[in-house]
Amino acid sequence: NFSNTTSLNAIKTVTVVGGGLMGSGIAQVAAQAGLNVNLIDLKPELLENAQKSIQNNLQRVARKLHKDSPAQIEAFVKDASQRIKVSTNLEDGVQADLVVEAIVEKLDVKQELFNKLDQLCPEHTILASNTSSISINEIGAGIKRKSKFGGLHFFNPVPVMRLLEVIKSEQISEETYQAMMEWGKSVGKTCITCKDTPGFVVNRLLGPYSAEAMRMYERGDASAQDIDIAMKLGAGYPMGPLELADFTGLDTKKAILAVMLDKTGDPVFREIQLLNRLVSEGKLGRKSGQGIYEY
Ligand code: CAA
Ligand code: NAD
Repeated sequence: NFSNTTSLNAIKTVTVVGGGLMGSGIAQVAAQAGLNVNLIDLKPELLENAQKSIQNNLQRVARKLHKDSPAQIEAFVKDASQRIKVSTNLEDGVQADLVVEAIVEKLDVKQELFNKLDQLCPEHTILASNTSSISINEIGAGIKRKSKFGGLHFFNPVPVMRLLEVIKSEQISEETYQAMMEWGKSVGKTCITCKDTPGFVVNRLLGPYSAEAMRMYERGDASAQDIDIAMKLGAGYPMGPLELADFTGLDTKKAILAVMLDKTGDPVFREIQLLNRLVSEGKLGRKSGQGIYEY
């Protein structure tokens, strides 16, 4: 049932490539909105983890929506999880109206994936990246369908955070841009638009704050706990900056910092030894059981 247009009505099947923190959340919100979803990752065990986390998070959403009805909770979870098909083979995901990429934050790996998708997907498929910081235009430099390509930047945890940044690539068509905005709305997000600038809106502003918090901890100005308590109770943030870094993933934070330094030249984004050490020790934050804190 594919059409040659990119209107919202045509977006019925979505493929999410990368089933980690972000990809599993994006697959979940798309399935909750009634879409058919293909979720692709490199290894079966990664997909099993993604399915477990989606199942848990669907339960949380369902309990909120259908408080008093165990039958409705069960039906909601079953319906949404049945919409998600998982595979380690990218080709199982190419028959889609929209593909959202949420793999590792590395330019060359993303470029390789988009070049493959561009060759394998039908002509009408919109391709989008969930990158945190890398230039959308650089990611899509090798693809032919430049008018059907842009950024869809979600926030962690995807089922809870209400924002979606829609990033306009240089050659995006008005039709694709409108389809992306409408699709974001249809999966429950408030969309804002940003040009293809380093870190877009949220990470351009959060990045310096986060980096300064890690340096403050590294210098020993205050304990990690006290830095986090300070920003929660003194500035009203839901999480402190160090908790949030662990929540985001320290490998992802490190990759974002490097891109931001390269693209802006601003020394606020210079390397942080603490971050380098933790990542080299495999301490990636919550997802690995240890980061700045232990879980
Ligand atoms: N899926 C579904 N529901 C979830 C969930 C998930 N993964 N995580 C939390 N929830 C729900 C809970 O069920 C709970 O629902 P009720 O209010 O109905 O009870 C609600 O969200 C609040 O959760 P908790 O009570 O467990 O915990 P909390 O109040 O501390 O909230 C939080 C958790 C929403 C994560 C909050 O701490 C928060 O907003 N933290 C900041 C997150 C943030 O800043 N994210 C953006 C990071 S930057 C980014 O993502 C961009 C990038 O490129 C790096
Ligand atoms: P993650 O490490 O949790 O998950 C990435 C997943 O992609 C892993 O499961 C990995 O196996 C898979 N993967 C890697 N290469 C692949 C390939 N070629 N094909 C298929 N799967 C592949 O990372 P994440 O936090 O979900 O981040 C994913 C993307 O989203 C990154 O670009 C990141 O910058 C961005 N992002 C992250 C956050 C955050 O808070 N963590 C927020 C917004 C955007």
